[in-house]
Amino acid sequence: MKLISVVGARPNFMKIAPFCHALEAYKKNHPQQPLEHILVHTGQHYDDQMSTTFFESLSIPPADINLGIGSGTHAEQVGRTMIAFEKVLLEERPDWVIVVGDVNATLACSVTAKKLGIKVAHIEAGLRSHDMTMPEEINRLVTDRLSDALYTPDRLSSENLEAEGVPPQAIEFVGNIMIDTLEAQRASSAKKDINEIIQRNTTQANTGDGFVKDREYGVVTLHRPATVDDKNKLEPIVEYLCNVIAPSFPLIWPIHPRTVKNLERFGLLDSINANTFIHVLRPLEYHDLLRLNMTAKMVFTDSGGLQEECCVLGTPCLTLRNNTERPITLREHDGASILVGTKVEDIQNGVNTILSDITTPSRPELWDGHTATRIVESIISRTKSEND
Ligand code: UD1
Repeated sequence: MKLISVVGARPNFMKIAPFCHALEAYKKNHPQQPLEHILVHTGQHYDDQMSTTFFESLSIPPADINLGIGSGTHAEQVGRTMIAFEKVLLEERPDWVIVVGDVNATLACSVTAKKLGIKVAHIEAGLRSHDMTMPEEINRLVTDRLSDALYTPDRLSSENLEAEGVPPQAIEFVGNIMIDTLEAQRASSAKKDINEIIQRNTTQANTGDGFVKDREYGVVTLHRPATVDDKNKLEPIVEYLCNVIAPSFPLIWPIHPRTVKNLERFGLLDSINANTFIHVLRPLEYHDLLRLNMTAKMVFTDSGGLQEECCVLGTPCLTLRNNTERPITLREHDGASILVGTKVEDIQNGVNTILSDITTPSRPELWDGHTATRIVESIISRTKSEND
């Protein structure tokens, strides 16, 4: 049996790591069964901090093939990926292509595989924001429509797929694969020192003399085009974080390359850098960010992955978006996150709620660190039953 799995951008790496490790474990335990795995990196993310660091620190085997796609418009990224990936598939002819998440690599490679009659397995299937202005929602819808095996992180996602008419035998609720990585890396992350992480990753000329203590700081991450490409949305958020939040508790802000570019373009980066209550960092390595999130007072984010991690870590989370494809992470579902949108008054209401109403989120079902093993076993048994 031959499998090709695909990664392209940062959030894919923590999802593919456990899958690669579970495949290796399966191979060791079943030496008689021929199982070949090829890892393809489309190259959508290419900076060391956005890619290589994750391979090293999560012990992902080096990609067998890198398509070198790089940055570009959506059509450029998807088009270039399809052309390059088709050549790989024609050469290798795998039984399955495994895609994760909802980035452009996920869409491009699932379409290319399906057009060649190769089966597609989608890890993290069924998430829906119902917001068609989000590029990821388009990627999710197309990928799920084409996939032969749809591995969902929670029951709400399975219900979404059932409602869309996906055959029930194609849907499997297996849990959240990213939590496999969190559980595997939790102990080593916990040993890290927050102030050392700040010193090592700062991009500020003057880092200030603020010493950050557990539970007394906030973490900020913002990268979605809907928030950071629009000056009218980004500027009030930056002013609020700089002038209202940071003076009451320090903020640690690892800034995504897209956001750095826009902050510079909108003339906002200097005021953030000059703020002695804000620690501006480059994009962080996995363990560093996990460590910061573990003991944050609260997290301000538009990242789906962080919403999920906060749920398991028990860290209060404000999701600066108008919708989420991950409702399981919200307080309504016993999660850690409040969906506050991007208006300053609403964010402040969310902060007040967190400060006055401490709740302990409960861990969603099957977010237990064993999702990848369930997926590997399922792919193998699906292939066997088709061959019988
Ligand atoms: C992509 C994903 C998004 C995911 C995010 C995490 C899609 C549609 N979007 O968005 O779902 O949450 O990754 O980061 O796939 N850049 C660098 N170095 C890099 C990569 C990018 O500097 O290694 C800069 C480039 O200027 C690029 C910009 O960041 O134009 C945006 O990168 P891109 O890959 O287009 O999308 P992301 O915003 O990272």
